[in-house]
Amino acid sequence: MTSTNPMPPPAAQPAQAAPDATPQWVVPLSDVLVDEETERAVAEVIRSGWWSMGPQVQAFEEEFARFLQVEHAFAVANGTAALHLALLAVGCGAGDDVLVPSLNFVAAANTIGHVGATPVFCDIEGPDRLNVSPDELEAAVGPATRAIVVMHYGGHPCRMDAIREVARRHGLIVIEDAAHAPGASWRDRMCGTIGDIGCFSFFSNKNLPTGEGGMIVTDDPALAERVRLLRSHGMTTLTWDRHRGHAHSYDVVAQGFNYRLDEVRAAIGRVQLRRLPANNAARGAIVAQYRADLSAVSGLEMPFAPDPNSRASHHLAVVLLPPGVDRDTFRGSLAAEGVQTSVHYPPIHGFSFYADRARRRPLPVTEAVADRLVTLPLYPHMRDIDREAVSAAVKRAVAESGVSVGEEPSWS
Ligand SMILES: Cc1ncc(COP(=O)(O)O)c(C=O)c1O
Repeated sequence: MTSTNPMPPPAAQPAQAAPDATPQWVVPLSDVLVDEETERAVAEVIRSGWWSMGPQVQAFEEEFARFLQVEHAFAVANGTAALHLALLAVGCGAGDDVLVPSLNFVAAANTIGHVGATPVFCDIEGPDRLNVSPDELEAAVGPATRAIVVMHYGGHPCRMDAIREVARRHGLIVIEDAAHAPGASWRDRMCGTIGDIGCFSFFSNKNLPTGEGGMIVTDDPALAERVRLLRSHGMTTLTWDRHRGHAHSYDVVAQGFNYRLDEVRAAIGRVQLRRLPANNAARGAIVAQYRADLSAVSGLEMPFAPDPNSRASHHLAVVLLPPGVDRDTFRGSLAAEGVQTSVHYPPIHGFSFYADRARRRPLPVTEAVADRLVTLPLYPHMRDIDREAVSAAVKRAVAESGVSVGEEPSWS
């Protein structure tokens, strides 16, 4: 058939990856378990027709608070929103300095900037403990210091008693970025509940994944009230309260946000929370096996040897490559075998945005480890055969690097 108004031939299109061309890793960095219980929880919410601000969010908050043994828990849209609300709730703002590790995800620094405060980057303890150093925090305190945002790296608790002592001496607020640490504890206190206010992320790669999501916890009723208001537009009552006849109208008493979680993700979160202790234990067992597998790789270190003071949630399996091994080549070798790796994290002080928007202490430890960090695959249902494949690939890649670092690893 001919057309009286023929369309011009389509312009040549750049080659586009088909949706199924996503790299199919033999062993991915992280993985979520897709199962019937989760599907059922989601389907029930969908069928209920009540998708926002309802019984699932309320139950998730109550169950999370009970799990952490904390007074108040507020489900939020994501972990970054949790940090933003926490900083606002404690009153951080223009003119304030906030101490934060540079070896960190960028969300903490970004949110410190969003409230008008200045991040002050602090160093970590050492290659064996990648958490912020309490001594460095002490040395970083200045007249404008208002708060500390600690991050429990990889789910390994910071030395919270020493950090609280620094905060007490200088009248500082402690915000815990516990994105990696649901279910972790320091001397029998759950991470997130040891400082003034704690923040969690439920991003898909986290220990408690809901897709996107987060939680803020605190024992302080005044902070809780600020979070409650700011999370939902500064409104004094919520749709859910009004639906249940608990209120008929509302006032607006703060310039808040919509940082709420929805019912579908809260339902997924409740399923994940029930599994969290077993999943964290499974992660810990896999990390112990990695440690045994890799103990003979000369010069390769695995930080965070088991610590009697703490229970880790084992969010990440991180190694430090032997000095001199090129990380890109190493990661390329693993990728060629289908093993996905990552880097947690490129230090924030190295990002161009932060070149002149932050202050920093000298960061010799962070800088010494930064180029050696590699994160290996880890998820609770990882099979032995997959972990063994990763360990074998690591050994091969280090051997192929030709770097020789002596016979005994420093951490065995
Ligand atoms: C340590 C840390 N803090 C904060 C966040 C931010 O969480 P979200 O991605 O849920 O906003 C993340 C997430 O990747 C994180 O790893």
